[in-house]
Amino acid sequence: MKNVLVTGGAGFIGSNFIHYVLENRDDVRQVVNYDLLTYAGNLENLTDIEKDPRYTFVRGDIRDREAVRALFDEYGFDTVVHFAAESHVDRSIVEPELFLTTNVVGTQVLLDAAKDHWKLAPEDKYSREYRPGVRYIQVSTDEVYGALGKTGLFTETTPLSPNSPYSASKAGADMVVRAYRETYGLPVNITRCSNNYGPCQFPEKLIPLMIHNAMDGKPLPVYGDGMQIRDWLHVKDHCAAICAVLDKGRPGEVYNIGGNNERANLDIVRLILRALDKPESLIAHVQDRPGHDRRYAINNGKITSELGWKPAYTFEQGIEETIRWYLDHPAWVEHVTSGAYRDYYDAMYGAENA
Ligand code: NAD
Ligand code: DAU
Repeated sequence: MKNVLVTGGAGFIGSNFIHYVLENRDDVRQVVNYDLLTYAGNLENLTDIEKDPRYTFVRGDIRDREAVRALFDEYGFDTVVHFAAESHVDRSIVEPELFLTTNVVGTQVLLDAAKDHWKLAPEDKYSREYRPGVRYIQVSTDEVYGALGKTGLFTETTPLSPNSPYSASKAGADMVVRAYRETYGLPVNITRCSNNYGPCQFPEKLIPLMIHNAMDGKPLPVYGDGMQIRDWLHVKDHCAAICAVLDKGRPGEVYNIGGNNERANLDIVRLILRALDKPESLIAHVQDRPGHDRRYAINNGKITSELGWKPAYTFEQGIEETIRWYLDHPAWVEHVTSGAYRDYYDAMYGAENA
C-alpha cells in the first residue's frame, strides 16, 4: 500500500501526477500534496479531486525543517515524489538565490526527513537498513547535462554541466541525493526528464505562453533565431515514467525520460499559429536568453529497455489536445494571467510586446 508525499503538487507536473495516480493506481492509499503555493502553485488544478478521500492538501515550505518532520510524523509516508522547485530558467537569471535555497536546501530537508523516518536504526550512522518498500524520487531535468551540439544525446552517464542558475540548482540537488545514497544507503532514484507540455502549465513556459498570446492576437516573443531545440514529452507520459521508476527502478539509479521528439522552437510556434488560424506576422524575434542552451535531446534507452516504459502520445496528438485544453479553460487562463503575471510579463518582455 503506497502512502505518497507529493511535493509541489499544485504546480504543472505535480498536479498532473496526482490526477494520474488517483486515476490509475489502486495500490495508492493516500496522496498528500505539500506545496507552498508560490506564483506557480494553483489549487484550481486540483478542484475536481479535492474531495477525494485519498487526497489531502497541506500548505507548507520544503525548506521548513520542522514542518516537514511534522508532516512525516503525521502521515507516515513510504514514498516521496519530489517535484517542488523553482522551475523557470528566465526567473533564475534574475533571482538565482531563491533557486538555490528552494531547489538545493529544500531537497536536503526532505532527504533528511525521509532518512530519519525510514532508517531502522536512525541513531546509528553506520546502519544502511531501511523500512521495506520505501522510496524517494528526485524529479530532475535533462538541463543538468548542459547543452548539446547538432548531434548526440544525453545518457545517464553524460557529465553534469549546467549553464543556468536553475539547472545548476537542480544539478546541486541531484548531487545531494546521490550523496545520501552513497553515504546513508537511502533508497532513491533520480529521474531526468526533457521538456514537458500539457494541461495546467503556467504560461511563462514556451508552449502555454505562445498559445495564450496567439489566442489574444499578441506578439509571440521568440528568443534569438528560434532554432534552439527541445525534446518534448507529454506530461502524462512523464507521470507514467515516474510510476515505472517507483515500481521497478533499481535503488540508486538515474533514469532519463524523453520522448524522442526533437523540435525547433520556431517550428512549435508556427504549428501553434496554424492550429489557431493566426498569422505568422505575430512572431516577434526578441533578444536571446543569456546562456541559452542550444539543444537538448534524451537517449531514453535505459528506461525503455530496463523498465518497459515508452511514451504513449505522439506530439501531433498531444499538442492538439493541449491547445484544445487552453481553449476550453478560459477561466483558468484568466485567473493565472491576471495580477502578478502581468507585472512579470511586462518586466520580462517589455510593454511593446504586451
Ligand atoms: P511548476 O513551477 O509548475 O511547479 C512548482 C511547484 O512547486 C508549485 O506548485 C510551487 O508552488 C511549488 N513550490 C515552489 N517552491 C516551493 C517550496 N519552497 N515549498 C513547497 N512548494 C514549493 O514546476 P513544474 O514544471 O511542474 O516542474 C516540477 C518539477 O519537475 C521541478 O522540480 C522541475 O525542475 C522538474 N522538471 C520540469 C520539467 C518541465 O518541462 N516543466 C521538465 C523536467 C523536470
Ligand atoms: O528540459 C527540461 C526543462 O524544460 C525543465 O527542467 C524546466 O523546468 C522547464 O522550464 C524547461 O526549460 P526550458 O528553458 O527549455 O523551457 P522554456 O519553456 O522556458 O523554453 C523552451 C524554449 O523556448 C527555450 O529554448 C527558450 C524558448 N523560449 C521560451 C520562452 C518562455 C522563447 O523563445 N520565448 C519565450 O518567451
